[in-house]
Amino acid sequence: MPVAEAEALKQALDAALGRLTTVEKRRRLLLWEGVRIHLDEVEGLGSFIELEAPDDGDQEAKVERLREALSIGEPIAGSYSDLLLDGPAALIDAAEAAMHNAYAPHSNFKVGAAVRSPTGAIYAGANVENASYPQGWCAEPSAIGALIAAGETEIAAVAVVAERMDVCPPCGGCRQKLAEFAKPDTPVYLGRSTTTTMGELLPLAFEL
Ligand code: THU
Repeated sequence: MPVAEAEALKQALDAALGRLTTVEKRRRLLLWEGVRIHLDEVEGLGSFIELEAPDDGDQEAKVERLREALSIGEPIAGSYSDLLLDGPAALIDAAEAAMHNAYAPHSNFKVGAAVRSPTGAIYAGANVENASYPQGWCAEPSAIGALIAAGETEIAAVAVVAERMDVCPPCGGCRQKLAEFAKPDTPVYLGRSTTTTMGELLPLAFEL
């Protein structure tokens, strides 16, 4: 229903109920035979398609036809707010799992990184060192390599963890590598305590 003072209502609801998270999205709405096709860009998560069919008896068949025609795979379980609330934890868990497999016998400094693409998929990687030191590489490019190998080119969120450092800020070179596929407002989770953005990590980034 329409409300006269949206801001005041928001404040009252916040005060009464508290706020778990904020979903900010831009939606393009298309209609096909009564089915609402939502093309959503959700801050911090990426791009999604949502199909909302009218309960007209033909609902399932219409959604199935659209899913086939648009090659849409299995739906995501849960809402955008669920994804936002779970998101950092799942991404950091993936970075941590990769970190345990890092090959870092020379520095003894294991790092794990994970990137989430707009599809929601997570790609993780670890640092790989070498007896000839400069031949080794960081965790971030390992994760980026997995993203690219899967046919994706966009990063919607990043997590970096290190075994021996609570907050491990990515090195300068890795910031540039991540910025190639991320946006200035892309969230970057440094361990479980610190959230920053790509733009904060690399202001005035070089772009060709
Ligand atoms: N390292 C990373 O994997 N990512 C960074 O952003 C910083 C450094 C790795 C490289 C090397 O194997 C070890 O940490 C010590 O420098």
